[in-house]
Amino acid sequence: MNELVNILGTMDYGPAPEDASIAKEWLHRHSGGIGHFIDGAFTKPGETFAVIDPASDTEIARVTQGSEADVDAAVRAARAAQPKWAALSGHDRARHLYALARHVQQHSRLLAVLETMNNGKPIRESRDIDIPLVARHFYHHAGWAEILADEFPGARPVGVCGQVIPWNFPLLMLAWKVAPALAAGNTVVLKPAEYTPLTAIVFAEIAREAGLPKGVLNIVTGDGATGAALVGHKDVDKVAFTGSTEVGRIIRRQLAGSGKALTLELGGKSPFVVFGDADLDAAVEGVVDAIWFNQGQVCCAGSRILVAESVASRFEQLLRRRMPTLVVGEPLDKNTDIGAIVHPVQLRRIQELVAKGQAEGATLVQGTAPAGCFFPPTLALGVEPASTLASEEIFGPVVTVSTFRTPEEAVALANNTRYGLAASIWSENVNLALDVAGKVKAGVVWVNATNIFDAGAGFGGYRESGFGREGGREGMTSYLSWPAPKARRPEETPPPPGTLPGEGPAASAIDRTAKLYIGGKQARPDSGYVYTVQGAKGPVGLAGLGNRKDIRNAVEAAHKAGGWGAQTGHNRAQVLYYLAENLSARAAEFGDRLRSFGQAKSAAENEVAASIRRIFWYAAQADKFDGAVHQTKSAHVTLALNEPLGVVGVGCPTALPLLSFVSLVLPLIAMGNRVIAIPSQTHPLAATDLYQVLDTSDVPGGVVNIVTGERDALMKTLADHDDVDAVWYFGTTAGGAAVEEASAGNLKQTWCEDGAARDWLSSEGQGHRFLSRATQVKNIWVPYGE
Ligand code: NAI
Repeated sequence: MNELVNILGTMDYGPAPEDASIAKEWLHRHSGGIGHFIDGAFTKPGETFAVIDPASDTEIARVTQGSEADVDAAVRAARAAQPKWAALSGHDRARHLYALARHVQQHSRLLAVLETMNNGKPIRESRDIDIPLVARHFYHHAGWAEILADEFPGARPVGVCGQVIPWNFPLLMLAWKVAPALAAGNTVVLKPAEYTPLTAIVFAEIAREAGLPKGVLNIVTGDGATGAALVGHKDVDKVAFTGSTEVGRIIRRQLAGSGKALTLELGGKSPFVVFGDADLDAAVEGVVDAIWFNQGQVCCAGSRILVAESVASRFEQLLRRRMPTLVVGEPLDKNTDIGAIVHPVQLRRIQELVAKGQAEGATLVQGTAPAGCFFPPTLALGVEPASTLASEEIFGPVVTVSTFRTPEEAVALANNTRYGLAASIWSENVNLALDVAGKVKAGVVWVNATNIFDAGAGFGGYRESGFGREGGREGMTSYLSWPAPKARRPEETPPPPGTLPGEGPAASAIDRTAKLYIGGKQARPDSGYVYTVQGAKGPVGLAGLGNRKDIRNAVEAAHKAGGWGAQTGHNRAQVLYYLAENLSARAAEFGDRLRSFGQAKSAAENEVAASIRRIFWYAAQADKFDGAVHQTKSAHVTLALNEPLGVVGVGCPTALPLLSFVSLVLPLIAMGNRVIAIPSQTHPLAATDLYQVLDTSDVPGGVVNIVTGERDALMKTLADHDDVDAVWYFGTTAGGAAVEEASAGNLKQTWCEDGAARDWLSSEGQGHRFLSRATQVKNIWVPYGE
């Protein structure tokens, strides 16, 4: 009786531990150490390191530190298996993926318990969220394998994929990477995180049990050095990485110029925006799911609460009341809300960041946590937007709270981060929520919800959160290739611009000095220099020699023209039709210009005619290249919107100077981007003649900026620039490598190709691939029903 009274007094739950015997038996069987899974078999354990259970701080297994030789063996196995795997019919590959899904379900209990023991996440989460989503991923992607040829005509697998994953959702991240790769006909070498390799090992056993052909899936364990060996292996065709932005940057640099495909899913500092009319009780539960789910070790965690001033104190009060009710402790207990931090190293990282935040003036409100590798749920109040806690990814159960007055201020604060992974918006006003969802720079936006994932929708970031999508149709495209044409003779570096006196054209041609075009106005180059443009019979004109300052001015002008992306597709189409008509009216003049470079009359006329048709084609696409409504599992309308990338630098090839310029600039501006284009270095006048056409066609100033000069140097400046969102470079191999390397600064998206490879006059010069490259998909989850 006394005991009952005590229980009623506190209303505490008694312990409800999950039975861990099945995982313990598995660990016992592997107690001699675990090797890699290569070519369908496990290698003997080599030099091993400890895998711990963070909740009890005990060693539970030892896995092998993968060497370069191990990685090489795995890549060779994957390479050998790839042609046969790709040659299977989509249906046959689908059957393998269905089998994987079913076997995951059969072993779900072992997987859930082992995941919890190794990662520290509450069993409720691994059992009800992680593992069911893993199975869902394989089912969903079995479907993609089945219909691949119909849905992606002409696409091929990329080849051998090197995949490196983090420790926060160990098996789920494996599923996100392996399922689409295999569905598309690729083979895989995957490296799990060093803290959490165990469920990947079980998955390898499952793959063998399910009859997956040997070599199709290979798993090599180890730390960052093993990861670096894998991504750097010369026979890997595609690298997919999820982890910290810091390592993402290293990988971007490492792969520059390698020709390998790359997708990066990196960190985040996602806003959680609560408007004055939000259902505050629901939003409080949202915070629980946003930052206290998985101990806050979630790349898309809502780690910055932005709350309307009018409801801020009430909301804070509700949070303060909710926080102590969260049960922090034993991960295997079914009542636990917050488990253990993955590793003492990560715990120290969180503690250090929080201490720094306190030193900077933050006030902490905290729940409780047991001793050991645990951290209490934490509200950080009084943080400045630029402070450590508000700007660094903490990767722990720590959330900042700040206020805003107007929706504009909320958007500005939400976007005040170098990341752009996710956002959560709380309002009962659907107009406001969707308006803000459109303005927030993030790859995933949840309205009145947070941290919802499904295989049917794409997931991935903007800005320094990386590029590429995982899941859904857009995720499949990351594992397919539409091989770029090969150059018969690669593009050569154009001769350096000649600026010496006497090199220029005869005096009669001096009026043909082309300036730069920045912000809708002609501008003298900052250097004051011009360079000579050579034609068939000697110099034909002068062009400005642009420099870094001109690029900076052009980027600034492009940023000011942000309204272009917000216009309707119809409006943009009207402007572009007008542009095509105005170019048509001056076709003869442009033909003459091309002939002055030495082109035959018919070739010049062809190029002008093709350029005009191309503008019409992209004008027509401006309001038609639209997104999708994804079939996600929950009661959500999930809108996949094609959004512009933002400000894009474009380096044009030397040949076909009008058509190549139009072919690259038009898809970008049709989709709402603003462009800084470096036209053909040798024949820039074909592009500079467009100034008046652009002016008379009502293309707003700053949408197209043209800087002439030494292409590769200017492109390097653009690739270095932190306010440029993407770079397209069609030039030399060395120039492309330099652009990719420089792009690592803010992790801008790049598209680099040999400038001489594409036949711009054919269908290679136009199409949906250009439009997909000109956009990034934002998935907005809008709930319906009760
Ligand atoms: P990390 O980025 O170092 O590790 C992720 C994966 O990359 C692991 O498998 C690791 O072995 C591998 N790796 C490390 N260096 C590599 C290299 N040079 N080349 C190839 N692979 C490499 O992340 P870490 O150190 O485990 O966590 C540090 C911080 O990173 C966290 O506190 C968190 O802020 C962030 N992080 C973000 C994740 C996300 O999903 N956004 C996931 C994991 C960590």
